[in-house]
Amino acid sequence: MKRVASGILPMIAVDRKAPKALHRQIYDAYRAAILGGSLRPGQRIPSTRVLAAEIRVSRFPVLNAYAQLLAEGYLESRVGAGTVVSASLPDQLTSSGSNGSSQATTRSGPRPVARRCSALPQPEEFAWLRNWGAFRVGQVAFEQFPLQIWSALVARRCRDANAPSTHYGALMGHRALREAIANYLKTARSVRCEADQVMIVNGSQQALEITARVLLDPGSRVWIEDPGYRLARDVFTLNGCIPVPVPVDEGGLDVAAGIRMCRKARAAFVTPSHQFPLGVTMSASRRLQLVEWAQSSGAWIIEDDYDSEYRYESLPIASLQGLDANARVIYVGTFSKVLFPALRLGYIVVPPDLVDVFHGFRRVVDLGPPTFHQEVLADFIEEGHFARHIRRMRVLYGELRRALVDSLRRNLGSQLRVLGDEAGMHLTVMLENGSRDAELSERAARQNLSLWPLSRSYLGAASQGFILGFGGTTLKEIPGGIRKLRDLLVTQ
Ligand SMILES: Cc1ncc(COP(=O)(O)O)c(C=O)c1O
Repeated sequence: MKRVASGILPMIAVDRKAPKALHRQIYDAYRAAILGGSLRPGQRIPSTRVLAAEIRVSRFPVLNAYAQLLAEGYLESRVGAGTVVSASLPDQLTSSGSNGSSQATTRSGPRPVARRCSALPQPEEFAWLRNWGAFRVGQVAFEQFPLQIWSALVARRCRDANAPSTHYGALMGHRALREAIANYLKTARSVRCEADQVMIVNGSQQALEITARVLLDPGSRVWIEDPGYRLARDVFTLNGCIPVPVPVDEGGLDVAAGIRMCRKARAAFVTPSHQFPLGVTMSASRRLQLVEWAQSSGAWIIEDDYDSEYRYESLPIASLQGLDANARVIYVGTFSKVLFPALRLGYIVVPPDLVDVFHGFRRVVDLGPPTFHQEVLADFIEEGHFARHIRRMRVLYGELRRALVDSLRRNLGSQLRVLGDEAGMHLTVMLENGSRDAELSERAARQNLSLWPLSRSYLGAASQGFILGFGGTTLKEIPGGIRKLRDLLVTQ
């Protein structure tokens, strides 16, 4: 049986002037709520005393109504649990569609939806996300997360809660977290920023949505990487922008091709530190070219720096934002990779002259991010746990990546090419032409193997391959995963 909320007051309106007796009105309201599904089997209902006080009647009509409902089997008394909706009501009696359904009909009359939403892709249940097998992209080594420390910080913040900390928070985000992020970015990513420029958001996805709505208009052309991050492309499309798919090669986004395709684009979206999905690092000359193009054509660069904390063989590459002397880069970061995605915390570093417009926009859209986990995260960073976690994870992910690359080369070296394993928590394997990655992904999912088909990331002519995540895959799982992948490729 589904879990049900307990003791919540159902909507019961009594009319003292109505000819119908009060106990009958209460009885009818309960019966309709039970049959309509707004009260579920097993759900505890308020005591007669509480209900009588809430609807401002004496207890007698309530006692009468409850007695009748108990006698007819709609309610039952449970020792220690009070009165509950009878657990033995047949499902068809309470399901929607029966007398007094909890669902209104959606079939009649015009039901207009905003034009911008008609361009949205249908939500799909992707095969490669349907299982928790090896190589799931975006998954972190959760069992390594210092949960004990985190829960102690949560408990401390709960204990210390007070009126200001439970009121609306700051629109741009919790000050201490903004400061901690600014310090971290200056040191670790060479980002030019002060805390005033940092806006806390609910993950990079919200960062992109806010940035698009503040800086772009319907009809604005935006360079996107091809192949690229589909959820970024969808944000631009949703906002009426026209994505211009610019090819990516070993040096990252081909800026010259972008200029040839659409010099006058309003913005470029890039993942220069670890291109998604190919994993390449944008070369220094391309970075300079991109920054120069943005300055000369008055365009914005949206830099998504989603997983650059983890770099294995070379020193970390400085952010593109830090290279740009003209403040044309909107820098987006996230805690989804470095901590875990369910946290839903990320940030935007906004150029100083745009802070007011981003701030004003925030006041309208959501009145700022939830405060509680921002406080906990600020403590986590300030007390050194964040830096320690990154150091530990870099070692672990480095080992996983080494084991995965070795195993791929040893077992499948002649059938695929490994790309983009220098950083992050995923790499890409390119298959021979003629392979069908999407079909293989479907078959893999049935064997509890998560293969993200590379072709899904292209707008133009697609290459075949897979994006393989290794953050949430254990050393023990790798050989079995590779065996399954090899068998799939042999029998395709
Ligand atoms: C390119 C890219 N950017 C950003 C993210 C993270 O998004 P969010 O911060 O909304 O979880 C991901 C997650 O997989 C990603 O692949």
